[in-house]
Amino acid sequence: MNTTTLNPQTTSLSPGTSIQQQVNESISNLLASLPDPEKLSAEQRRGIIARYTSVLEGNFIYWMTGAYLSVRSEEARSIILDNLHEEVRDSHPAMLRRFALAAHAAPTDSDALAVYRDLTNVRLFVGRLSTVPLVITMAFFEGFIQKFMSFLAGIAVAQGSKEMEYTDVHGVCDVAHTAGLFRALDAEIALNSSDSDNNLFEGVQLLRKLIERIVNPDMVSNGTHATA
Ligand SMILES: [Fe+2]
Repeated sequence: MNTTTLNPQTTSLSPGTSIQQQVNESISNLLASLPDPEKLSAEQRRGIIARYTSVLEGNFIYWMTGAYLSVRSEEARSIILDNLHEEVRDSHPAMLRRFALAAHAAPTDSDALAVYRDLTNVRLFVGRLSTVPLVITMAFFEGFIQKFMSFLAGIAVAQGSKEMEYTDVHGVCDVAHTAGLFRALDAEIALNSSDSDNNLFEGVQLLRKLIERIVNPDMVSNGTHATA
């Protein structure tokens, strides 16, 4: 894993573009750390899809709801509500479950256990409803998901799947969702000057660890890979 330390000290609450640059950099570094799909075994491919599904299926809407509960500006509320509306109306969890089933990668108890600790850390962070760090986290999440879809679709195809609705939809709609969340961030930054003392990237760091765990469940906690 190539861990890049985000530097909150260099981040001011204005302009938001500095935050956006750090989020984009973190997404790029995370994508660059992904394994070569050609070198993955069938079990490694199955595991990545299963752990991704285990995390996203039951948590994405709940975490976005947390962001909704935390924001105060009308603009941010409206943007996040649109996002939630689409998730629920089009039943993205059902779409994701179909994707996993078609790739023979429905999550098992072991898959859930592998991500349990890192998932819990993100849940506890979301529960604090710390507005700016949480909106930054969800912008990072949307931005990552959108760019991760080609990798995810590729390993599903290698598993023999032809069910690509989930990856097709999220490779497109999350572009607008990410841009929307950065607009929501700007609106919230204008209202939340007291957040300037917080670690704005705490949630990004926790979520990034969780995604790294999805990709490599044998990663040891200091961020290096287990050799066994
Ligand atoms: Fe979605």
